[in-house]
Amino acid sequence: MGVGVLGVGHYVPSKIVTNLDLEKVVDTSDEWIRTRTGIEERRIADDMDTSDMAYHASLSALEDAGVRPEELDLILVATVTPDTAFPSVSCMLQEKLGAVKAAAMDVSAACAGFMYGMITAKQFIETGSYKHILVVGAEKLSKITDWEDRNTCVLFGDGAGAAVMGEVSENKGILSFELGSNGSGGKHLYLKDDGFLAMNGREVFKFAVRQMPESSLNVLEKAGLQKEDVDFLVPHQANIRIMEAAMEKLGISEERMAKVIQKYGNNSSASIPMALSESVKDGKIRDNDVIVLVGFGAGLTWGAVALRWGR
Ligand SMILES: CC(C)(COP(=O)(O)OP(=O)(O)OC[C@H]1O[C@@H](n2cnc3c(N)ncnc32)[C@H](O)[C@@H]1OP(=O)(O)O)[C@@H](O)C(=O)NCCC(=O)NCCS
Repeated sequence: MGVGVLGVGHYVPSKIVTNLDLEKVVDTSDEWIRTRTGIEERRIADDMDTSDMAYHASLSALEDAGVRPEELDLILVATVTPDTAFPSVSCMLQEKLGAVKAAAMDVSAACAGFMYGMITAKQFIETGSYKHILVVGAEKLSKITDWEDRNTCVLFGDGAGAAVMGEVSENKGILSFELGSNGSGGKHLYLKDDGFLAMNGREVFKFAVRQMPESSLNVLEKAGLQKEDVDFLVPHQANIRIMEAAMEKLGISEERMAKVIQKYGNNSSASIPMALSESVKDGKIRDNDVIVLVGFGAGLTWGAVALRWGR
């Protein structure tokens, strides 16, 4: 048997903040943000918290998978912006969904969190311990964003993405993976004592431009695949220039890469499942496609998965 994705879903709050809106708050311009990052607008969850967005994305993924909340064995929520330090978002989600037999825990691996969640889920399913696992990436980054800091406030947004994982046929599902960390780079992206995010953009950029292609190529090699075998790439949506670097190294054309950064900005752990879910719903990912999911983030952390789509 294989271990794969049975269904996907995502949720974004309705409030849109455009680059022009940000021009009124900090010394920036629509032109700078578009050309340096690829972002045009982002969503902000004023009256919702991370667990609320996780709930809506999860409902959609469960429906897509045809799995009832009572059938879930485990809930993993990747987030760096939990509603509160404890209880976990995954426990809040367990209650909201009525997932009566599910165990629940949060995963803290920043923007690579969803990849860590997926691979954790894979182990439980492979051993036969669990059958259905809900993996969610959900973030309310607006609450840790300093809206007076132009270096960071233009980059982030709120949202959630989810996947129900379980058994799929032998030749489908996850073909290979890579997870990694380098704590010595923690100083480049962290939460300050004042509760706001701090970032050394240039250092993170250099790391990401190297790591995304490297991890993607590593998972292909582990799966015995070539660059040419990749049908679709779902990269973390941090900066269009980082995404394009990965695209070029893999020799992938723009139509074969998930791109939602212009609408949503960087949603940390939610970016990959949101981009995956939109791509599936838009018909860009089809049965039997080889896809690569790849992310990087604070920690530093990174993760990539090669996957044959379908059940
Ligand atoms: C943050 C990032 C967009 C900055 O782009 P960049 O091209 O590297 O820009 P630089 O950092 O070299 O800054 C260039 C200038 O633009 C300025 N600038 C920064 N933010 C700005 C903004 N929003 N509007 C206008 N100017 C801005 C800087 O102050 C700097 O000015 P200076 O040269 O006078 O000091 C880019 O480094 C990046 O995307 N890094 C990775 C971030 C990331 O992925 N984070 C999340 C990881 S999960």
